[in-house]
Amino acid sequence: MEQVVSAEEVRGALARPRMEGRTIGFVPTMGALHEGHLSLVRASLAQADVTVVSVFVNPTQFGPGEDFAAYPRDIEADAALLAAEGVDVLFVPTVPGMYPPDASTTVDPGSIGTVWCGAARPGHFTGVATVVVKLLGIVGPDLAFFGEKDYQQLKVVQHVVRDLDIGTRVVGCPIVRDRDGLALSSRNRYLTSDERGHGTVLHRALSALVESVRAGNADAPMLERDMARMIESEEGVTLEYASVVDSDNLERVTTIDRPARAIVAARVGSTRLIDNVQVPASGACDNG
Ligand code: PAF
Repeated sequence: MEQVVSAEEVRGALARPRMEGRTIGFVPTMGALHEGHLSLVRASLAQADVTVVSVFVNPTQFGPGEDFAAYPRDIEADAALLAAEGVDVLFVPTVPGMYPPDASTTVDPGSIGTVWCGAARPGHFTGVATVVVKLLGIVGPDLAFFGEKDYQQLKVVQHVVRDLDIGTRVVGCPIVRDRDGLALSSRNRYLTSDERGHGTVLHRALSALVESVRAGNADAPMLERDMARMIESEEGVTLEYASVVDSDNLERVTTIDRPARAIVAARVGSTRLIDNVQVPASGACDNG
């Protein structure tokens, strides 16, 4: 595995495979890698000829008072995991390399970036969209892999790539969960063992929604109220939102009559957790 720091080095490392017509897969990450990230890496290794992974804790997607300084960083451990998977190129840019002092352009994804997590974290999705567009510009991948765990991020990136005619196919990959149902996240390491137990209520509420829809309930506001009630009654958990939304534009739906996603966010102690699930077609027995 070749480890590089600059955009020029990435382009240099990819010049030959590109000339040979080999496909390039890309997995952008902020490091602190876990099985969720590795599932994206494996999807890229399976679907592309060459796999590039970036590790960059992007300051522009953290708000004031958020955990940018404390965000877990362990590049040696990350590099060892990626080398063992068979990754070809690891790109670890620096903050001044990505954001020279005179850089002034940002990418605003519009209204899809100001709802849900975007409402709680103003500017977050502009930071995400800006860094992703820059990374795609540097790597120029055929395919880029994002986890469905950050479902709004996946949709923001798909919309930005479509709107800006970027020639990369954005591939969403399924959420990876621990045995207790908690969706894997680099931030889970902030949780105490009690908080972990309470945090599984997000997955329990989403699973109950799936069961309720399968039993024939298509009333989205009622499904939202049931999720909210379950999450709010869990000790130490503060609900931010529990909503049923259109799978593509993330607008709330009133009935399950189109592809929909149930999305939740809550604080467990001081840690913010998010989770989501595809809503089955009303009355269906298979969550696809
Ligand atoms: O999901 C993440 O780790 C980040 O938001 C991303 C996509 C790497 C952009 O910094």
